Amino acid sequence: MQLHVIETRDEAEFVSQAATFLAQAITDVIQERGGCIIGLSGGSTPKSVYEALGKISLDWDSVLCFLIDERYIPADNKDSNQKLVRESLVAHARIPETNLIFPDTSLPIDACVEHYARDLMVLFDKHLADIVVLGMGNDGHIASLFPPMVDSLMDDSRLVAHTQTDQFVVHDRITVTLNPIAAANHAVFLLNGMEKKKVWDAMMLDFENERRWPAKRILASTEVTVVWGM
Ligand code: 6PG
Repeated sequence: MQLHVIETRDEAEFVSQAATFLAQAITDVIQERGGCIIGLSGGSTPKSVYEALGKISLDWDSVLCFLIDERYIPADNKDSNQKLVRESLVAHARIPETNLIFPDTSLPIDACVEHYARDLMVLFDKHLADIVVLGMGNDGHIASLFPPMVDSLMDDSRLVAHTQTDQFVVHDRITVTLNPIAAANHAVFLLNGMEKKKVWDAMMLDFENERRWPAKRILASTEVTVVWGM
């Protein structure tokens, strides 16, 4: 397990350090292989980080972005992760539309899953994700992989799944599965606040496996950086 930790003292420092770290990580990948594929989570934590990241000058034309998960709602809905990423990161960085790979939630849900899986298959055929940006819910979920993970989600043959949750307003979710997230070269967790630290620490102390703590698969599979906000 390669685990790096960046501790910050307040919101401003959390945003600044997370954005700077991600910008450098993206730049390093572009320098190394000529392009960068990054998976972006939604939720409330990353919005300010994406805004700050989008304002950093780098070769955004060489960055391909996909969503780690999406709420099954129209792309212009206030709770849409696509809307969040477009308004925070894409608008500032002016990432070309052709560089964005998002689920089409205007399709019936099964077709949405199928089409997104196909689009990700084409993307990962170029190269697996270089970086994935993750959060963690108070139940230990990452992406929209809600523990305890049902058998079908433990099946690594699928890239995308439809999951449901009653924890949030939007119950139906489209999510990348564990395998493609764990296959990324670098996972960056953005965890702001003591609640997140308690959940993370509980996971690290718990012997239960990835069915209960999906992030354990990520920790066991790739380089992980956690940016803590206190
Ligand atoms: C989403 C995210 C989800 C998020 C966690 C933490 O669509 O909500 O992808 O996995 O990372 O729920 O969310 P917060 O950052 O809002 O605490």
